[in-house]
Amino acid sequence: MGGRLAGEVVLVTGAARGIGRAIAAKAAEEGAAVALLDVLADQVAATAADLQQTGAKVAAAVGDITDENAVRWSVDQLVDELGPITVLINNAGKNAYADATKMTVDEWDSVFDVDLKGAWLMARQVLPAMIAARRGSIVNIASIHAHLTTAGMFPYAAAKAGLVGMTRSLALDVAPHNLRVNAVSPGFIATDLLEEFFDTIPGSRETALDAHPLGRIGTPEDVAEVVCFLASEAAAFVTGANWSVDGGLGIRYA
Ligand code: NAI
Repeated sequence: MGGRLAGEVVLVTGAARGIGRAIAAKAAEEGAAVALLDVLADQVAATAADLQQTGAKVAAAVGDITDENAVRWSVDQLVDELGPITVLINNAGKNAYADATKMTVDEWDSVFDVDLKGAWLMARQVLPAMIAARRGSIVNIASIHAHLTTAGMFPYAAAKAGLVGMTRSLALDVAPHNLRVNAVSPGFIATDLLEEFFDTIPGSRETALDAHPLGRIGTPEDVAEVVCFLASEAAAFVTGANWSVDGGLGIRYA
C-alpha cells in the first residue's frame, strides 16, 4: 500500500476512541501497520476490527500506559505481531478538574501519571529499537492548555506543559540518532473528553464556538492529519516543535 507512512509501524496509545482512533485510521490510510493500545478492552478491539476491514495491518493490546510492566508486555505483544515500532504516538490522556487547595496527592499523581509519565514510559520502551535502527519518530499529543488555560483545570495544564518540555528535551537527546520528537497541541476537538469539559465548566459550550476565528471546533481528523504529517518523512527537518491545531484560538487577543 502506498502513502506517506508506507513501511512504518505506528503505535498509537489511547487508540480506542476519539483523537487516537482517528490517528490510527489516518496512519492506516497512509499505508502504515498500526498498533493500538488502550485500557478499554472492548472498544480497542472494535476499533481494530473496523480498521482491519479497510485492509490495514492492525494489532491491538490492552494495557495501562502508567504501569511500566503493562507497557513492556503490551509493546512486546504488538512488536511480536507487527515488527519493531518505528513511530510512537503518545495520545492517551485525561482531563483533570481540581482546586489546588483541596486536591489530594493521589489525584495529582493520577493526572501526571497519565498525561506525562505514561508518555515517557512508552518512549523508554520503544526508543532502544529506534536508536539501533537509526529510524523513528515520536509525536506527543499535548494540549492548548500547555500555553493557555482556563480556571478549574489544575493541574492538567501543568502536566501538558511538562509534556511539551519533555518533547524538547527528548528531541535534543535523540537527534544524534536520526530520530525526531514533536508535539501537537489540539484546542477544542469534538470527542467524549470535550463533552466532559463542556459538562464540567459552566458556560463553556456556549462561549467556545464564538471564540474560534475559524468559526467551528475541530474534528479528530483535523488533528490526525497534522500528526501523521509530523510522523512522516515529509517532516524530516521538523523536531522539538509543538504545533497547534486549534482553529486559531491560540492567536486571539480579543
Ligand atoms: P478520549 O477520552 O476520547 O480518549 C482518550 C483515550 O485514552 C481513551 O480511549 C482512554 O481509554 C485512553 N486512555 C486513558 N488513560 C489511559 C491509560 N492510562 N492507558 C492507556 N490508555 C488510556 O480523549 P481525546 O479527546 O481523544 O484526547 C486524546 C488526547 O488529546 C489526550 O491526550 C487529550 O488530553 C488531548 N487533547 C484533547 C482535546 C480535546 O478537545 N478533545 C484538546 C487538547 C488535548
